[in-house]
Amino acid sequence: MGDLELKNITIGYGNTPVIRDFSLTVENGQMASLLGPSGAGKTTVLRAVAGLLQPRSGAIIIDGRPANGLPPEKRNAVMVFQKTLLFPFMNVEQNIGFGLQMQGRSTGEIRRRVEKILELTELTGLNRRKIHELSGGQQQRVSLARALVLKPAILLLDEPLSSLDATLRQHMRELIQDIQAQTRITTLFVTHDQAEALMMSQRVCLLLNGRIRQVGSPRELFYRPADPDVARFFGGCNFFEGRLKNGVYYSQYATVAAPGLSANGDRLTATIRPEDIRICADGNRGITGRVQKTSFEGTTTRIWVQCQDRVFVVLAPVTDLQAGQSVRLHLPPDKIRIFAAEN
Ligand SMILES: Nc1ncnc2c1ncn2[C@@H]1O[C@H](COP(=O)(O)OP(=O)(O)O)[C@@H](O)[C@H]1O
Ligand SMILES: [Mg+2]
Repeated sequence: MGDLELKNITIGYGNTPVIRDFSLTVENGQMASLLGPSGAGKTTVLRAVAGLLQPRSGAIIIDGRPANGLPPEKRNAVMVFQKTLLFPFMNVEQNIGFGLQMQGRSTGEIRRRVEKILELTELTGLNRRKIHELSGGQQQRVSLARALVLKPAILLLDEPLSSLDATLRQHMRELIQDIQAQTRITTLFVTHDQAEALMMSQRVCLLLNGRIRQVGSPRELFYRPADPDVARFFGGCNFFEGRLKNGVYYSQYATVAAPGLSANGDRLTATIRPEDIRICADGNRGITGRVQKTSFEGTTTRIWVQCQDRVFVVLAPVTDLQAGQSVRLHLPPDKIRIFAAEN
């Protein structure tokens, strides 16, 4: 166990920098999610921590020790890859024990540790199975077991669940959380799935185009996105403009007290999440609009409403609204997020 500290890391392939000035700390015993779309640079960060790639600049500190020059086997950081990469000619226990064998551990110790890890990863009894005789979820658990058995200071999980179906994925999320809570291994969990990142850890780091855009609690990223790109990544889709005057934000859609923002006259972008917009049955509250189209999504319906020069997307519990119908939309001021002007 130990802290993982990344300080101002820049990493590139050839002449192109892929990760720029990346800093992140995962505290001892904690799990953090590294979230970003495909191509953002998530795997690149993990490979640098594992020692499979050298950063151009910046420091990687594992358990208080600078790790930049260390080979992978001396780092005490183990990576579980997106593709399982198990040895097909070995059975489950041989795969899991392989790393310990390389370390020259005794047969007795290997057997004891493998048995314990099999139990932890819900693989008890599958010791002699060949890899091709396992389901996708079991193979993924063998990969996890193979990393855990080494008792690394740092566990790096690179989208370990992306190839599993939805039900299995949910079970594996809970299993990984349980194992992390029991073992207290400092873990960096990589995913492109925003919901998964929010549910897996108390700390989420959003990576867009090789740069960290926001680090915080799941609620902070979801409800207080730092900029429109972050909001968009979390499903935000209603953006509009307004102006600040004496601590009040005025737009044609809503008026919001904004005591924290001071720049008078600035044109600022604001957003409201689709599920936070209220459809009013009648009366004169809110803004008028016309339903453009609707899409039934099961527990909710997505409704596109044309209001003045803009289309608002609304997520509502199942509704029988039809295209062409007039509605009023209310944008509750406390649900509106105003973005400070960019410098
Ligand atoms: N070996 C490589 N050589 C050149 N470019 C690479 C290599 N690996 C990844 N890249 C590029 O680096 C960027 C980040 O890749 P990666 O870290 O795999 O992203 P992610 O894991 O977030 O999907 C991508 O644009 C990708 O094309
Ligand atoms: Mg990747």
